[in-house]
Amino acid sequence: MAERMKVLVTGGAGYIGSHTVVELVAAGFDVHVVDNFCNSERWILQRLATLCGREIPHTELNLLDEAALQACFAAVKPDAVIHFAALKAVGESVQQPLRYHRNNVGGTLALLQAMQDHGCQHLVFSSSATVYGNPESCPIREDAPLGATNPYGQTKLVMEHVIRDLLAAPGSLLRAAILRYFNPAGAHESGLIGELPRGVPNNLVPFVAQTAAGLRAEISVFGDDYPTRDGTGVRDYIHVVDLAQAHVAALRALRDGGDREITVNLGTGNGFSVLEVIEAFSRAVGRPIPHKRVARRPGDSAECWADPALAEKVLGWKASRGVDAMCADAWRWQQGLSDTPTAARR
Ligand code: NAD
Ligand code: WQD
Repeated sequence: MAERMKVLVTGGAGYIGSHTVVELVAAGFDVHVVDNFCNSERWILQRLATLCGREIPHTELNLLDEAALQACFAAVKPDAVIHFAALKAVGESVQQPLRYHRNNVGGTLALLQAMQDHGCQHLVFSSSATVYGNPESCPIREDAPLGATNPYGQTKLVMEHVIRDLLAAPGSLLRAAILRYFNPAGAHESGLIGELPRGVPNNLVPFVAQTAAGLRAEISVFGDDYPTRDGTGVRDYIHVVDLAQAHVAALRALRDGGDREITVNLGTGNGFSVLEVIEAFSRAVGRPIPHKRVARRPGDSAECWADPALAEKVLGWKASRGVDAMCADAWRWQQGLSDTPTAARR
């Protein structure tokens, strides 16, 4: 393998992928982005060039276009792949299960085939806490029961299974890290990159940010009768830069030996309620943010937070940024969005 690892980042223009590109370049990896921009913007690549101090090579393609993907592997010759590219909206996946399975599972199959055909042996895969379904108890360890409550979650479970089947195949040289993210939030501290939801945000933090910016009238707090400290849902919000750095740690762990399979939670081990997140964001903004209590959202669990001990042990990584930094960074990004080409279209 090359002294300097070349990493192909699928979905590298997206929210978590873009932050990971910055951390990879800072850590001395060569990066090549693959994206079809179905849920991201081309101008993010210019922001990445600014942050990284050089252009980031990229190929615009859909992972389902196997010929284009194979040609990209032949040209780039990556030593490793970090695979972010997927559709991720839970509600949409219930409406369009076939599209989700085709894009997420089909895209992953094409990618794994290309890796095998081109002798690429290192994979870091974006999984999700969604694979724990409605958790029986918290904190959640990696050996907790698995189960999906929606088609998006099913695609993550299927992809995890496919990767494990490949790892177990006779003669397989694959080494893979399956990373189960809890609730990624926040933005790069420069304010140059961050989350770009299309339409009404599904996730709490971007919705709060848009409400703070006056783009939405008020936040709906989904349920205040959960058995939690203030009755609202509790989640493990992890700063996206901490998450990005975990990918660098995972690549190094795969490269430097040890287990051929790593499956770890990426969370902080701390839960915050919906009201606590709104309060933290209000502190960042310097004024209250309007919100009202409404009925529970179907499918939501009361609480979901990680036991992050295994990630620390296996990757030597642990989240260091708190919820206040997360909100301050998300707010900086939100405020800068009005100066981007996207502001007019969203
Ligand atoms: P995102 O939508 O911002 O990024 C995904 C990127 O992949 C986008 O740039 C999109 O254009 C691209 N893409 C999707 N399908 C593609 C295809 N077929 N070919 C080429 N490019 C394609 O999402 P994100 O929040 O950065 O999520 C990244 C990964 O992390 C996803 O796999 C997601 O399921 C997983 N994840 C996200 C969260 C979260 O809350 N954001 C939580 C857990 C897991
Ligand atoms: C967080 C909390 C809501 C919006 C989802 C996916 C999961 C993973 C991360 C991809 C909950 C409450 C939300 C709002 C609210 N994604 N909420 N008002 O549901 O924990 O996880 O994103 O893998 O798979 O399911 O995240 O941000 O939607 O919700 O009160 O407008 O905020 O009820 O308690 P969730 P979320």
